Amino acid sequence: MPIETTASVVAQVPDGAELLAVPFDSTLSPEVELHLPVSDLLAHYEAKGEAGEIVEVPVARGGGVGRVLLYGVGDGSPRALRKAGAALARRAKGRDTLTVVAPDGDVAAFAEAALLAAYSFKIGNGGKKPVRALAFAGADAAQVRRAQVVAQAVALARDLANTPSSVKNPAWLAERAAEVGVPARIWDEEQLQADGFGGILAVGRGSASPPRLIQLSYTPAEPTDRHVVLVGKGITFDSGGLSLKPNENMKTQKTDMAGGAVVIAVLGALAELGAPVRVTGLIASAENMPSGTAQRPSDVIKHYGGRTVEVLNTDAEGRLVLADALAYADAVLDPDEVVDIATLTGAITVALGRNVGAVYASDDVLAKRLLDAGQVSDDRLWRMPLIEDYTPALESSIADLANVEAGSRFGAGSITAALFLREFAGRRPWAHLDIAGVGRSTVDEGTLTKGATGFGVRLLLEWLTRA
Ligand code: BES
Ligand code: MN
Ligand code: ZN
Repeated sequence: MPIETTASVVAQVPDGAELLAVPFDSTLSPEVELHLPVSDLLAHYEAKGEAGEIVEVPVARGGGVGRVLLYGVGDGSPRALRKAGAALARRAKGRDTLTVVAPDGDVAAFAEAALLAAYSFKIGNGGKKPVRALAFAGADAAQVRRAQVVAQAVALARDLANTPSSVKNPAWLAERAAEVGVPARIWDEEQLQADGFGGILAVGRGSASPPRLIQLSYTPAEPTDRHVVLVGKGITFDSGGLSLKPNENMKTQKTDMAGGAVVIAVLGALAELGAPVRVTGLIASAENMPSGTAQRPSDVIKHYGGRTVEVLNTDAEGRLVLADALAYADAVLDPDEVVDIATLTGAITVALGRNVGAVYASDDVLAKRLLDAGQVSDDRLWRMPLIEDYTPALESSIADLANVEAGSRFGAGSITAALFLREFAGRRPWAHLDIAGVGRSTVDEGTLTKGATGFGVRLLLEWLTRA
């Protein structure tokens, strides 16, 4: 479900607005225009003006009772405004229209957060509906418009990842990708075979639903030389395969295509945001299942381009499908930069937790650009090291590489996974985003809703549109 809340701009606060949000320190002078003793009220409630704080005041409105939400904006930073916007949308749940006197500062961040907080994914009908309309008084229309496009892209990524795996097999994902409005090319299992995508095929072998490779192409209106390739992990369900996961770890794995969902959503939003760079999206999609046709631990597979890998653990499947796509991007697409995004390792959740994503990079300039975009967009990243000492972890006695470390001499599961991917990315500037910790939220809070987060959409759109 896309976000059904609409965001619009109004020139001034309409008479008799049923629900009106006004910043604590508004120049609207609520004392005069709303006939409210604002400073007395704030003192009474011991309100401090922090971001996220809301003092709700009933007021007489055209014969009934309306409400004014006095809201804090903290230090007025984009981060604080996001908190304020999300809190307002949450408070307005179940209501028709919330009119918001916009704060000073980054209105795009404020509106975007309000829209994201209004996201909901329901199969069936329960609970309060999100606020139907947000009307921003005195706000810049272009900023609100950007917020809406970005929030809808995040919502698409969340929707795809929240969809149960009984619905979203690789073919389904390919159909959804082909709908986002850019040219699409899909490899089915026969074409994957013909072109030598042995990693994607090996991971998909155990499933009744065959794998797909999806390519989406965005070309800007103004021709340009710069070409970026985005690669997303599209495992529509990760049972672990024959290296089966315990149920506790398996029950969250419908979101193992979150990286692929981000790539699809980003490709769909670039035109509306006028991104000035050519972007190709690759989504390597398979369902990782155990069965009589599944790959076995100890099998040797051959990746796109011919490199062989000994599969010691079928649950390290993300790197196998990504390796094919990265090798293809390097050999065929000739990009200036390659960025992959994947729910790759449980280990990164141990290292960075649920609020900050990992970026690995072969190139300092690319790393810096992504880190900066992370700060601005609120999809925050921390740079992780590609520790050269650990490369022997992936040696195999019979193949070019092993997909996991055979013993536990080195550890560092997220780093060795990144080192594995690096082998296939070629010599181009490459970055890898491990979003296993941040791809999914356990809380309904602020801009986050329980389940898929869409982490990476805001980051990549920021990077690709403002670079
Ligand atoms: N999809 C998982 C990683 C994951 C774990 C994502 C938890 C989201 C939440 C990945 O395919 C996986 O199973 N990784 C293994 C790698 C191991 C076998 C080397 C892991 O992290 O345990
Ligand atoms: Mn796995
Ligand atoms: Zn996985």
